[in-house]
This record gives sequence, structure tokens and C-alpha cells, in this order.
Amino acid sequence: MANLETTYLGLKLKNPLIISSSPLTSSPEGVADLEQAGAAAVVVKSIFEEQIRADIGNMYDVLEGDTSGFAMEYLCADLPARLGPEKYLKNIKAMRERVSIPVISSVNCATSTVWVDYARKIEDAGADAIELNLYHMPTDIKKSSNEVEEAHVKIMQAVNDAVALPVTVKLSRHYTALFHFARHLAQAGASGVVLFNRFLHADINLVDESVFYKPNYSTPSVFPSQLRWAAVLRDWVKCDIAISGGIHSGDELAKALLVGANAGYCCSVLLKNRSLTPIQQILDRLSQWMDSKGYPDIASFRGKLRETDLHDGHGFERAQYIKAATEIV
Ligand SMILES: Cc1cc2nc3c(=O)[nH]c(=O)nc-3n(C[C@H](O)[C@H](O)[C@H](O)COP(=O)(O)O)c2cc1C
Repeated sequence: MANLETTYLGLKLKNPLIISSSPLTSSPEGVADLEQAGAAAVVVKSIFEEQIRADIGNMYDVLEGDTSGFAMEYLCADLPARLGPEKYLKNIKAMRERVSIPVISSVNCATSTVWVDYARKIEDAGADAIELNLYHMPTDIKKSSNEVEEAHVKIMQAVNDAVALPVTVKLSRHYTALFHFARHLAQAGASGVVLFNRFLHADINLVDESVFYKPNYSTPSVFPSQLRWAAVLRDWVKCDIAISGGIHSGDELAKALLVGANAGYCCSVLLKNRSLTPIQQILDRLSQWMDSKGYPDIASFRGKLRETDLHDGHGFERAQYIKAATEIV
């Protein structure tokens, strides 16, 4: 029977499957159920930087001041799970006491560093790591891509300086130069990058011609994009990589590991099925595939298909990618 143990952000994991930030990870009870179902770690439902600075009572007012309005949409799609800053810390503490798997806290941030002291409180509450969820629509027409990225690196550095915990950054796929940015984050101290977050999709109600938002669950069809980016980034960022997006079976998890990811995140497959059973199914399939290949553990195949090792031009990118990457080493 294959050994699924691995590490992510320096944390020991019993297997490489982490449940991503979502309504599933918003309560200690939910997190205990996830541990029971086989999850190796959880990323707690995000708290917003606006929430940290404001009392829950005037959260709507604060978020309405958000330039993008996207924070508001994201929040409204999942409002019942939202907690104020003090309750969020209590929640982390309760989770930490309740389960033995790592609990990774998540902060949605993108615009300022004024809340960074809160990261110390997250650490004191017992979180094992902090994930910065850079979910932000850069709608300020005066800001260049460089300025946006620099602000994000600054936030990561400020958090990293404030805590001894490992800090990982959940990215969106919409950076102009993702290679450069991810590398910059790693050089500035990030212990990991997560590829990728998903924006809520807006839809239109044709009857009353209004715009509405609903949680959009993934399908495995979104997975190849994550796979490709992880494969090409693997050797050029000196930090861990987790894939989030489209992991619905053990096949996707095996592929994530083959391109060099340290862990795979999932949530849609559980939310869609309204069941935690897929966790064990994913792990059983991974284990079965490893046995069929004669891999005793994750280390014996992790990274085998990362882009750098594919020198025949038939990898995830063709030769021009390899050339470009070589030039920035
Ligand atoms: C209902 C819902 C709520 C989510 N809330 C958060 C959140 O608070 N913070 C975050 O970083 N990601 C959030 N996500 C994104 C997921 O963590 C995950 O990155 C994304 O759904 C892709 O993974 P999947 O294909 O397994 O769904 C949410 C996703 C869903 C479906």
C-alpha cells in the first residue's frame, strides 16, 4: 500500500489532499468532519482585510467602499459563513483544539498592510500557516501592473515579517507576467503559491434584467490550466506549489503531483456532491495508481513531468518557454 505522507509549507501531511477555503471550512465542526473524512489539512474560510478593520455590524458599509465591488459580491455569495475578526480568531483556536491536522488561516487582502498586526493574532490563535488570498479586481485605472504586483509583494513581506508562520499566496491567473511575479513572491519569502483562485461569476437574470452572483463550482475541465502553470513554474520558484481548481478525482491529484505540486486543494467536488465521501475516493484512487506504477511514496514520482525535465519540446510549453526561463535564472 503506497505511503501518501508528504509535506507542504514545512507542515507534515498524512496525504497531499487539502480542503480549500470555502463554506466547508468555516466552522470547527465542519473541519472535524473533514479530518474524519480523510483530509490532510484545511484552509479556513477567508476573512477580508475590510472585515479585520471593521466591526461586523458595519461590514456592508465598509465593503461598499471597496473600489472594485468584488469583495462585496464575494462576501454576499456566502454571507452566513462570515464572522467578525474576534470570532474568526476564536474559530481558529477552536479548530486548532478540535483537530490534529494543520489549520491554515486565510486572509483576503490586496490593497493595504494596515491590518497586518492581525496576522500575529492569527498566529497566537494557533494557526499553522497563513494563506493570503489575493482576490482583487485591479480596477484602478491609474495603477500599472507593476504597481499592483509590488503592492501584493509588500503585503506578503509585511505578513512574513510579522509572523513566524509559513505564508503562502493564493494567486489569480490574471497576472500579466505570472512567472516573474511568483518568483518575486518566493524571493521575498513566500513559502508557497497556490494556483489558482476563482472569481465568482456574475450572471444576468433575463426576466428582470438584473445582475446576480452565485457560487460557481468547478468541473475537472478547468484543471489543465492549473496543471500547465504548475508544470512550467515548478523549477523557477523556490517555494512550494499547491494546485487549486478542478481536482475532482485521484487522477487530477496524481497529475498535480507528477508536475511537481506539493499538494492539491479541493472543494467543489464536495460541495457539488453534498458529501465528503469524494475525499477518500480521491485518496484511494491516488493510492491505487501509485501501487500500479510501483511508486512506494510521493517522493518517488513527484515532479517527474515538470516542464524542465521535458527537453524534447513536447511538454506543457515548447522550446521558447524553456529558453525564456533559462534566461531569468
Ligand atoms: C462557495 C465558495 C466559496 C469560496 N470562498 C473562498 C474564500 O473565502 N477564500 C478563498 O481563498 N477561496 C474561496 N473559494 C475558492 C476555493 O477555495 C477554490 O480555490 C476554488 O473553488 C477552486 O477549487 P475547486 O475547483 O476545488 O472548487 C470559494 C469557492 C467556493 C465554491
